[in-house]
Amino acid sequence: MKIALLGYGKMGKEIEKIAIEKGHTIELKVTSDNAEFSTSELIGIDVAIEFSRPEFAVSNIKKCFDANVPVVVGTTGWYEYLDEIETICIARNQTLLYATNFSIGVNLFFKLNTQLAQLMDKYPEYKVEVEEIHHTQKLDAPSGTGISIAEQIIENNNLKEKWVNENSTNEKELEITSKREDKVPGTHSVYYKSGIDEIEIKHTAHSRSGFANGALLASEWLAKNKDGIYSMQDVLEIK
Ligand SMILES: NC(=O)c1ccc[n+]([C@@H]2O[C@H](COP(=O)([O-])OP(=O)(O)OC[C@H]3O[C@@H](n4cnc5c(N)ncnc54)[C@H](OP(=O)(O)O)[C@@H]3O)[C@@H](O)[C@H]2O)c1
Repeated sequence: MKIALLGYGKMGKEIEKIAIEKGHTIELKVTSDNAEFSTSELIGIDVAIEFSRPEFAVSNIKKCFDANVPVVVGTTGWYEYLDEIETICIARNQTLLYATNFSIGVNLFFKLNTQLAQLMDKYPEYKVEVEEIHHTQKLDAPSGTGISIAEQIIENNNLKEKWVNENSTNEKELEITSKREDKVPGTHSVYYKSGIDEIEIKHTAHSRSGFANGALLASEWLAKNKDGIYSMQDVLEIK
């Protein structure tokens, strides 16, 4: 595949390494130096992979739509524009796959989290909490993955109505605690705590290669699929 890397930082470089090993070619790399790249530079690209910064994701996605290039988006923190992007994608028959987390392990964790939330719905004596830990350069808090985990719990557990990123004494609010520590690629935990015991599920990323591998898997899958909006659950067939 001919790939455009929209964002060539920690993730872009990791994706490049694995893409070349798999026989793909990188035709375009975008950083802040060439952020004003034109749509014509995307001509002939099979898939664009967007791991940039929250404030640039939306305009990069729109450029891909203009160029008719399927786009895989890993950048988090831009989701207030998701409805607008999805509407444009459908109206213009474009192809989009976005995920708060591309790691296969996290997507299996999402499934487990959903099932556990359904099970725990009958046991209000367990207080549920979410914790996410990331490296200190991370720009958004809580993490996109942390928000996905919280939303899965809220959808499947009647006790919680919304998430908050602070301590809360309101029983209807689900606390997401964000911690920033040096060199942590991403750790997510869900706790169910009662007075007598505690259940914990936890995913620990040991490096960024799981995200990069997943993003490439998604890109290969997307290049073979037709117009529409997709997720990692589609790629992994774990809906
Ligand atoms: N979904 C997932 O699985 C997953 C996993 C890890 C990270 N992420 C997310 O992916 C994003 C990138 O993470 P990262 O760790 O790679 O960040 P990073 O190291 O800061 O890299 C960001 C890159 O974007 C470039 N950039 C700046 N302006 C741009 C523009 N207008 N268009 C395109 N690129 C531009 C930066 O260039 P300069 O260096 O010149 O500024 C840099 O190369 C973050 O939102 C992060 O939360 C998602």
